[in-house]
Order: sequence, then structure tokens, then C-alpha cells
Amino acid sequence: MPKALITGITGQDGSHLAEFLLEQGYEVVGMVRRTSTIRFDRIRHFQDRVTLVSGDLLDEVSLIHLLREHRPQEVYNLAAQSFVQASWSQPVFTGEVTALGVTRILDAIRIVDPEIRFYQASSSEMFGKVREVPQTELTPFHPRSPYGVAKVYGHWITINYRESYGMYACSGILFNHEGARRGVEFVTRKISDAVARIHLGLQQELALGNLDAKRDWGWAPDYVRAMWLMLQQDEPDDYVIATGEAHSVREFCQIAFDQVGRDYREHVVIDERFLRPAEVDLLIGDPTKAREQLGWQPTIGFEDMVRRMVDNDIRLLKEEHDLP
Ligand code: NAP
Ligand code: GDD
Repeated sequence: MPKALITGITGQDGSHLAEFLLEQGYEVVGMVRRTSTIRFDRIRHFQDRVTLVSGDLLDEVSLIHLLREHRPQEVYNLAAQSFVQASWSQPVFTGEVTALGVTRILDAIRIVDPEIRFYQASSSEMFGKVREVPQTELTPFHPRSPYGVAKVYGHWITINYRESYGMYACSGILFNHEGARRGVEFVTRKISDAVARIHLGLQQELALGNLDAKRDWGWAPDYVRAMWLMLQQDEPDDYVIATGEAHSVREFCQIAFDQVGRDYREHVVIDERFLRPAEVDLLIGDPTKAREQLGWQPTIGFEDMVRRMVDNDIRLLKEEHDLP
């Protein structure tokens, strides 16, 4: 039975990837960091089928110990300070986890077992102020946030360890991907959750920042499949994973409110607190390489995704508030 270690298993992608790998017959080890309150909401339904181990990307020794003890063949590094907005208020912490954390885990792999196959969760945020549209694996980076800068470091250190030490290390440049397990601080889930609350009479208004920002939004379960495919190839490489379509935050609002028969203009207000010091205006990816070499393609379109997210939040809130 193949064994995989996932850092960030309690996050959106980590929870989907763990389920996917279990379905493929893997033994899954998930690294969790110590917190005073345990939040395993996303993994509770399969927690008894994975092994959870303590470790932190800030602590190299913890990484070496858990690799020595569990000896995985594949490591998926999904852990990060992943919220772009927070990276301006915590730039050094973001760099420690999201940038240097990658070197720590690569070094731990090199020390314990350099044959381990490694996946790094890189991001379309690296393209930032985009140099071309759509963005490919060869598009130059111009990150616009401390998070984006940290991800550029993580991307290049992964390539550098591949070239320096011959490691099987891949970087997946994933565009935004969403779903029922997305954190509520990210704009898509913030909208779907608010629409559900407004529909159920639990909230009146939704405060947002830049409605004109455009993103290439995909469906998270599709994207974790691409991570696994990258580690099954003969040679390690880097791939853009995207839908190839961009939509604005405003369009997301229109569809989400339409799902409950409402007009977003009657509920959405602009709040400057949600504007960013530097914005990424337009992200749109070209997934041709992934389609041709990995056989990967998305299964869910934008409108379907928005409507599913709203329906899911209505269901969750009804359960939580005991509503009919
Ligand atoms: P997420 O929901 O925010 O999950 C982040 C995970 O990292 C959580 O499990 C978190 O643990 C863990 N973590 C944070 N700091 C850590 C540390 N110091 N040591 C160990 N674990 C730590 O993020 P996601 O959306 O699943 O994204 C997964 C990865 O893909 C991230 O690296 C993100 O930057 C990248 N990415 C995401 C997208 C996207 O659209 N979702 C696109 C491109 C790239 P706690 O639960 O304890 O907080
Ligand atoms: N979060 C948030 N909240 N974003 C808002 C809001 C708001 O109230 N109003 C408008 N936006 C805009 C942001 O300015 C941004 O342009 C866009 O919505 C998307 O913001 P997020 O959902 O926070 O995601 P992100 O694109 O900054 O980052 C996500 O995708 C990256 C891939 O490009 C995260 O998942 C990153 O970890 C990931 O790397």
C-alpha cells in the first residue's frame, strides 16, 4: 500500500486530497500543528482512516522525526499561511511558513529519504500584475502581496532542489479553487455563506471590497486530483492548473443571489477594509500542458460551482439553526 504524507490536512485542499488518496488505496498520514482548540471539522468524517501526527513547518526537527517514523513515498506540502489579505499584516510570519517552510520540508526529505516524491502547492498569486494573458508555466512572475512573494520563493526552491539534488519535486501552479470546505474569509465562501444567511433571514447586508477583481475559479476536488497526477509521471515537472475562464467578484455575487431569487445590488455594500494595498486584477490560466501531459481537466463549470456553494451553505445553516 503506498503511503503519503500531507501537510495542511486540516485545510480545504488537504481534506479533499486525503479523501482522494484513500480512494486510490493509499495509507494517509496527515501533519497537524498544535493548537489550543482542535478544529478538525473538515476531516472528522474520515479521521479514523488516517494517521494524524504532530508537526509544524516552522520546526525542522518535527519534520525530520515524522518522516523517519512514517517513511512516506509521497509528500504533499499544502500547509501555508494562505490568506492573501493577512499577509500584509503578518508578512514575516507568512514568509517563515509559506516560503522558508518549503525549504525546511525539502531539507527534511533530503536528509531522511531523497527518493520521496514531493508536491509543492504553488499559486497563481505569483503572477500578480500579470505580464501576459492567459498565464502559462513560462509566464514571468510579478507577485503583489507578501503571500505571493513567499510563494515565488517556495516555487523556485522546489525547482532548485530538483536541479541541485535530482529530487522528484513538482510545483503545481494552481489557480483559485473553491467548494463547500473553503474558509469563510475567502471571497467565494464569504458570499455563499452571506447569501444563505440573507435567504434565511439571519443577515441583511454583505460587505465586500473590490467587485471588479477577476479570478479563474475552479472546483477544489478537481484540483487535488491534479496534484496526485503530477507525482505519478516519469519525470518531475511544473504545471498550471486552471479552468481557462475568468469571472469577476460581481458576477459571482449576481449568480449567488440569483440562486435565492434576489438582486445582489440590494444587499452588497462596499467596505474599504476589504480593499487591498495592491490588487491582482485579472488571473486567467492556460491549463494546456496539464491537459496534454497529465490528461487533467476540470469537471465543474463556474455557474454550477456558485449555485452548489450557495445550496450547501443553506443546508448547513438550516442544520445549525434547526430551521425547516
Ligand atoms: P487552507 O484551507 O488555509 O489550509 C492551510 C493549511 O495549512 C491548514 O491545514 C493549516 O493548519 C496549515 N498550516 C498553516 N500554518 C502551518 C504551519 N506553520 N505548520 C503546519 N501546518 C500549517 O488552504 P487551502 O486553500 O487548503 O490551500 C492549500 C495550499 O494551496 C496552501 O499552500 C495555499 O497557499 C495553496 N493554494 C491554494 C489555492 C486555493 O485557491 N485554495 C490556490 C493556489 C495555492 P490549521 O488548520 O491548523 O490552520
Ligand atoms: N477575501 C476577500 N474578502 N476578497 C475580496 C473581498 C472580500 O470581502 N471583496 C473583494 N475581494 C476580492 C479580493 O480583493 C481578490 O481580488 C478576490 O476577491 C479574491 O480574494 P480571495 O478569495 O481572498 O482569494 P485570493 O485570490 O486573494 O487568494 C486565494 O487564491 C490564491 C490563488 O490565486 C487563496 O486561496 C490563496 O491561498 C491562493 O494562492
